Amino acid sequence: MSDIDEMEIDHVGVPSDIAFSSEGKGKKMSKANLPVSAQDTLPWVEKYRPDTLDDVTGHEDILQTINRFVESNRLPHLLFYGPPGTGKTSTILALARKIYGAQNLRQQVLELNASDDRGIEVVREQIKTFASTRQIFGGVAGKGDGLGSFKLIILDEADAMTSTAQNALRRIMEKYTANTRFCIIANYTHKLNPALLSRCTRFRFSPLPITALRKRVDHVIEAEGIKITDSARESLLTLSRGDMRRSLNVLQACFASSTPLDASGRPTPTQPHEEITDEHIYDCIAAPHPSDIQQIMNTLLKQDVTTSLRTIHEIKTNKGLALADILASLSEELCSLEVPKQTMVVWLEGLAEIEWRVGSGGSEGVQTGGMAGVVRNGVRVMKNK
Ligand SMILES: Nc1ncnc2c1ncn2[C@@H]1O[C@H](COP(=O)(O)OP(=O)(O)OP(=O)(O)O)[C@@H](O)[C@H]1O
Ligand SMILES: [Mg+2]
Repeated sequence: MSDIDEMEIDHVGVPSDIAFSSEGKGKKMSKANLPVSAQDTLPWVEKYRPDTLDDVTGHEDILQTINRFVESNRLPHLLFYGPPGTGKTSTILALARKIYGAQNLRQQVLELNASDDRGIEVVREQIKTFASTRQIFGGVAGKGDGLGSFKLIILDEADAMTSTAQNALRRIMEKYTANTRFCIIANYTHKLNPALLSRCTRFRFSPLPITALRKRVDHVIEAEGIKITDSARESLLTLSRGDMRRSLNVLQACFASSTPLDASGRPTPTQPHEEITDEHIYDCIAAPHPSDIQQIMNTLLKQDVTTSLRTIHEIKTNKGLALADILASLSEELCSLEVPKQTMVVWLEGLAEIEWRVGSGGSEGVQTGGMAGVVRNGVRVMKNK
């Protein structure tokens, strides 16, 4: 089901005077007002999906430009691209709601994403039928002759469209420009047809800075009444690496796992939750704890290979870590050391090679040995200088 459909369902039976802007919070029908059962099962990424452009954090320059387009009643074809979980889909849905109002979304907006069939027939038929019919709703009050009179076609995850379909789209975009605007959303632009790219105004959604993640995560922490230590919150933000979806999913998983258990080991959701700590966060993300990485690095740098391998094996077994997770954190940690350039080159080159081998199906045990060999080689280069 598309996001548009979900939104429609959310508002079934909702009085028409409901405000969808950030003002008038009292009247606002947000997903937080859903019945308790629905609230509990709704993933937080959906429950806290921004309703308005003001709720989208980070990307200030992009939002400013988009707001200027709306104010001046001018909207070009748009292309949003960037890594996952940075707010591309949320921004276009909030923009559509701002232009048309929630009631007219279904009539004015066609959203197709990768779960829909988007071969050549769909582009030819579905988009053509939607784009070629005249609109009969005037958009939000006072905007009937402005942007509200345009239809919006959102092609989410467009990098998954076949190239024949992308080619067919070029002509359709030009033909229906009089009454239709397209918003193409993709993770990678190199998978899109260059001629399609040149028809759109591009906006790159870069990974969100920690301040933007913090703003939204703090909002959710407050709204859900979560107890979390400062250090756990900082770890969550750092480990999310600019992906808001990831930070909200991890927070929800940690919150669920902090439910106290009764004597028979069953969760008791009515009792106050335990405070979320660093341990919860690292366990949930399955990222190695900094102290474990420190221990692995020390043993590799200072002890012989047999002892190092035994220590690494113990840590991996006790903490349930995979070599791939250790490699990423270990290389970050090694890069922060002050060592001769030659040593650094041996480490970086070697670890990159091991990561590639692990990714292509190399044996975990053999590659762990390989990692130990690479680090020791770097140390030997250092000693021979
Ligand atoms: N900039 C943001 N401000 C507020 N919330 C955000 C932001 N970015 C992402 N989110 C949250 O993360 C969820 C996922 O965001 P969204 O679907 O917009 O990501 P996306 O960029 O379209 O990712 P993908 O490329 O994987 O489709 C949203 O439901 C929202 O809760
Ligand atoms: Mg998306």
